[in-house]
Amino acid sequence: MDAAREIEVLIRAKYPILYVVSWEERRVEDAVKLVCDKLKRTLHTWSVTQGMKPPVTRTSGPVKPTALPGELEALALAHESPEYTVFLLRDFHPYMKDPRVIRLLRDLAGRLRGKAQTLILLAPVLALPTELEKDVTVLDFPLPKASEISDQLDHVVAAVKGNSAVDTDLTPEMREIIVKSAQGLTLDEIESAFARSLVEHKKLDVDVILEEKKQIVRKSGLLEYYPATDRLDDVGGLELLKDWLAKRRKGFTDKAKEFGIPVPKGVLLLGVQGCGKSLVAKAIAAAWNLPMLKMDVGRIFGSLVGQSEENIRRAIKVAESVSPCILWADELEKGFAGVGGSGVSDSGTTARVFSTFLTWMQEKTKPVFLIATANDVTALPPELLRKGRFDEIFFIDLPDTEERKEIFSIHLRKRKRDPKKFKLNELAARSEGFSGAEIEQVVIGSLLAAFDQDREVKQTDLHHEIEASVPLSVMMAEEIDELRTWARLRARPAAKRDE
Ligand SMILES: Nc1ncnc2c1ncn2[C@@H]1O[C@H](COP(=O)(O)OP(=O)(O)OP(=O)(O)O)[C@@H](O)[C@H]1O
Ligand SMILES: [Mg+2]
Repeated sequence: MDAAREIEVLIRAKYPILYVVSWEERRVEDAVKLVCDKLKRTLHTWSVTQGMKPPVTRTSGPVKPTALPGELEALALAHESPEYTVFLLRDFHPYMKDPRVIRLLRDLAGRLRGKAQTLILLAPVLALPTELEKDVTVLDFPLPKASEISDQLDHVVAAVKGNSAVDTDLTPEMREIIVKSAQGLTLDEIESAFARSLVEHKKLDVDVILEEKKQIVRKSGLLEYYPATDRLDDVGGLELLKDWLAKRRKGFTDKAKEFGIPVPKGVLLLGVQGCGKSLVAKAIAAAWNLPMLKMDVGRIFGSLVGQSEENIRRAIKVAESVSPCILWADELEKGFAGVGGSGVSDSGTTARVFSTFLTWMQEKTKPVFLIATANDVTALPPELLRKGRFDEIFFIDLPDTEERKEIFSIHLRKRKRDPKKFKLNELAARSEGFSGAEIEQVVIGSLLAAFDQDREVKQTDLHHEIEASVPLSVMMAEEIDELRTWARLRARPAAKRDE
């Protein structure tokens, strides 16, 4: 049922007080107005700056100029007004801390129950004192649906019709992309984004709409908008993981949905340090052409009681409002370490935040693809690994010979060197046990050495660098072995290995 219909039903059923949560006053008011017209009720709106509009004719009591503060006066007016009225109070939530306001609302709830009179509180946030929980019906007024956005799009296009400088032709695919990308914005934001795009670019441009979304993310302060810079071609090896991702590239489209494909949930990338976990995460955003939000797990944990729980809920909400998008939780184990362990010293906050997160992962319906990465599997709570949370858990091992060749080639090319001029087989053979990050360091190190001597890099520079470095896999051989054993049973390999 859509929100406007729900409001209608509740008004008809004579619910005394509704609390509508939305940023969009205009849209909600329009919807309420339609309902009032249909049900033949008089609508009065109130805000602290505008007062009551239209003014109320009192049925009882003397008509006296009151000295009550505005918010109490508004409730008093509702109290005294006749039936067949609806009162819409904008931004009333700050006053609901006042015990007198709370009491008046409770009195009012009692009086209005069963009467054809409704009080609607409209605010962007839900702040309901416990005393009122049983008297107030809360409903979310969701952001515009695809169909509404599509109508808005027609509206904007119609407005510039006849202007030959503006290109409003859209293929059905483009239209879907634009409508999708505008989901999560308010109708006003959508209108501005479309208009801005037509003025600035003379056509409807997805980037302008995404820019509008970046604002939402920035204002939230909990997530960071991550520009998609790396491409999957910049990732060496990991063929199985890349195949898996490629197959799900179109997983967020309407076509995929019609085909019966469930929206991809997410992946967990586990593995040895410096082997490309973060790199792959960043590359997926570019490959799938979706905005990527990075969640800093550390920032979620606030210093005030209850703040961390609120933060994770807000972060999830922001991500959902920007969806379809990718949510990247890098080094997940650092944030959620110690959940359920004996070292819990924060009276269960971490565990509660974690469980909110888990529940969301399990039940989320919005297209938010979660990419989580982790090094230390022992720190990961076992609940996280249960089926249904992630679509797949991948283990990223050290690159094999063939993969090392590819990684050398990628990093040489990145630094404007032609890989064909180097004996890649030889480099790969000599760098057994090196991670991708270490190979990158070898390339950089040899460039530095050559530059210092005012000459071009040679094959032997790379050999020297390889010999001079001790890879982590040597220093941490035991840990890596343990990780492999662990992963063999629980995760899917990201690359083929012939063992
Ligand atoms: N498979 C790879 N192909 C190309 N480059 C790679 C690869 N793996 C690592 N690199 C290089 O090493 C850098 C560091 O890798 P990345 O940050 O992805 O490692 P990680 O697995 O996230 O490590 P950590 O566990 O330390 O976070 C990358 O930016 C990239 O330049
Ligand atoms: Mg990383």
